[in-house]
Amino acid sequence: MQKEIIGYGSFIEGTYGRKLPQVSTPNFGETILFYAGRYALKYLIKRIQAATPIGTIWMPQYYCPFVKEWMNHEFESIKYYYVDPFDPESKIDWTQFKSTKDLVMVNNYWGLKNTDIPEGDRPIIIEDHSHGWLSEGSLNSKADFCFASLRKTLPIPMGGIAWKPKASKSDISLNNSDIFDSYSGENPMNEAWDTIIGSMELKATCTKNGQKERYLEQYMNGELMVRSIYEVYKVSAAHAAFINQYIHTDFNSFKKKNVDYTYPKLKKSDTFKIVRHETKAPFGLLLAFKSLDTLNELKKHLVTNQIYPALLWPTNDLTTEYTYLLNIHMDYRFDTTDLNYIITTINNWITSNK
Ligand SMILES: Cc1ncc(COP(=O)(O)O)c(C=O)c1O
Repeated sequence: MQKEIIGYGSFIEGTYGRKLPQVSTPNFGETILFYAGRYALKYLIKRIQAATPIGTIWMPQYYCPFVKEWMNHEFESIKYYYVDPFDPESKIDWTQFKSTKDLVMVNNYWGLKNTDIPEGDRPIIIEDHSHGWLSEGSLNSKADFCFASLRKTLPIPMGGIAWKPKASKSDISLNNSDIFDSYSGENPMNEAWDTIIGSMELKATCTKNGQKERYLEQYMNGELMVRSIYEVYKVSAAHAAFINQYIHTDFNSFKKKNVDYTYPKLKKSDTFKIVRHETKAPFGLLLAFKSLDTLNELKKHLVTNQIYPALLWPTNDLTTEYTYLLNIHMDYRFDTTDLNYIITTINNWITSNK
């Protein structure tokens, strides 16, 4: 970790040539790769729509605002439902969905959930495992279809995946190449891919502050392309090969080991609770706050100390006591020296805010 220049950030730049352990090849059933999670989700909905008319599309109220906006651009009939994102045991109230033609998107919050899929008549269910790729919930999903944004976990510039779980009860097959959009000339995804991979390379070799600004700007340019491209393009063979290098890497074992090391060393605070599970690997160190102002105070303190957490998600109207989440990455890039530094920095803030 080159702390002085790049700090501890969320954008995963590479493996620095390290050989990481692999999980034994999971059986996901039918799978298709995409350039991002949102393209996988759009493909799935279009694929289902091509086979059967669908009514309302239900999304969780607490969800990434950019993806909500992107989905609203693409689909008219979206409504939102409520589920507590900070309680791994919280359950969806399935009785609120009255029609079997509705489509409900459920989120495996932070990789800690195992969604209960109701028996009997029920809506069509798509499950999002973007924060829990290779989690127990993703491996054993009973949803009709699943997807994940792979670029949230793997050191890749772009990537998403859709699959039809083994336990799916849907009779719609996943693959139908008619759903993909076509293009003439260069695939527009190539530019986004090259822009983001360029920024990953800049980050991995960054030794000067000026380079840091460049990679951040370049990364944002690539991200803005994803936000403004709505067509779903097939992943090229070369890009698929790049994604597949890491697709079965066991990133969760590092996260679990790192959070288990961290939890007992953190001082108690009345301002946040740790969202965690005894046996499951979380997306990162998850601190849920009651107040956005307090969250922002800790965030500012962390940033001053070169720790760059993510705020998930600022615009929401949760009615629970805890309403905002700070995620501090705890992946394979961090060793015990890094973790001790992060722990001390958080503990210093807790002590000075008592
Ligand atoms: C929970 C969740 N699901 C899906 C997505 C969409 O993934 P992508 O950005 O790869 O389209 C995001 C994106 O930020 C997300 O946070």
